[in-house]
Amino acid sequence: MKLIFLTLLIVSGIADSISEQYEVVGPADAVYAVAGEDVILPCSVKPNISVVDMRVEWFRLDLKDSQLVHLYEDHEDRNTDQIQAYSGRTKLIHQELQRGDASLKLSSVQVSDGGLYKCFIQSRSWYDDATVNVTVEAIGHPPVITVDGFDHSGGIHLQCESKGWYPEPDLEWLDSEGVSLSPETTKKHRNRDRFSVKHTITVHHRDSKIHCRVKLRRHMLEALIIISSNMFNPWRKSVILILFVVVLSVIPGILIAVFVLKNRAHGRLEKEKRRLMQAHNRLQDEHSHLQDEKRRIQHECDQHLRSLETIIPKALMHFRTHSGE
Ligand SMILES: *[C@@H]1O[C@H](CO)[C@@H](O)[C@H](O)[C@H]1NC(C)=O
Ligand SMILES: *[C@@H]1O[C@H](CO)[C@@H](O)[C@H](O)[C@H]1NC(C)=O
Repeated sequence: MKLIFLTLLIVSGIADSISEQYEVVGPADAVYAVAGEDVILPCSVKPNISVVDMRVEWFRLDLKDSQLVHLYEDHEDRNTDQIQAYSGRTKLIHQELQRGDASLKLSSVQVSDGGLYKCFIQSRSWYDDATVNVTVEAIGHPPVITVDGFDHSGGIHLQCESKGWYPEPDLEWLDSEGVSLSPETTKKHRNRDRFSVKHTITVHHRDSKIHCRVKLRRHMLEALIIISSNMFNPWRKSVILILFVVVLSVIPGILIAVFVLKNRAHGRLEKEKRRLMQAHNRLQDEHSHLQDEKRRIQHECDQHLRSLETIIPKALMHFRTHSGE
């Protein structure tokens, strides 16, 4: 009789511990959470026995020091050792515990909540755990398109900026047919746990309806700019006007330059002419002076000749008279 009782006790004990065996199941894929919203981190036991009498512990696998996110023990939440950042933001739904569901509700998700979590469920005779990979995304502000000036070929510079994303989003320019346009410059900036992106592009008349689209996984924000053809035309007119003004100011400039150069050349020629005239005059003076000299010499010659003409006969006569004596 004693033996039968003992056997029964052992069998019931084995049965009890077999009935306590369970598997802890987490989500198959990463859980995506949006900053500022609430998220459920799924965790349950299979088969779906009640975990009301068990210990449910949620903790961070990837943090070094304090790791506790939420603790349920002895039928109540015991969060005195909880990580400060999770204070007041975690909740286990006690009715769900009866159904074997130990999912954790996390409110006002922060970017720093992204990481690996462990859901650990322990009964008197059994324990198991599951890992939950939480990825947090922050949805930024709608993109803003700025008209940033014109270029010399009549194109319009556009700039599209969107702030407040995590992680870094994709920014894309699209024309009216939805064809992607390659940006000229791309910039990204990180400010603590938020990214800003800024791309620039130059558009011409043919693409007058331009979209700027910022995408992060399933989230998308878009801005549209419609550039009326008037936007291009006054610009052309002003180019023509500017060219005209330039031409107007260049032509007199050229004329003045030509005039000045010509004047300068003329002045040089005039000077040369004066110099030559002076030389000419000097030569003329010289010439008349020489002429005078020539005339004087001629005159002197004539006088000498004449005196010789009178002297010679006299001398001959003298010679004759003296030789006749
Ligand atoms: C968590 O999920 C993200 C997104 O799917 C993935 O990139 C990352 O590698 C995962 N981390 C681990 C440790 O599995
Ligand atoms: C356990 O799961 C089964 C099938 O999924 C369901 O019919 C049953 O109601 C669940 N039990 C509890 C306690 O939720």
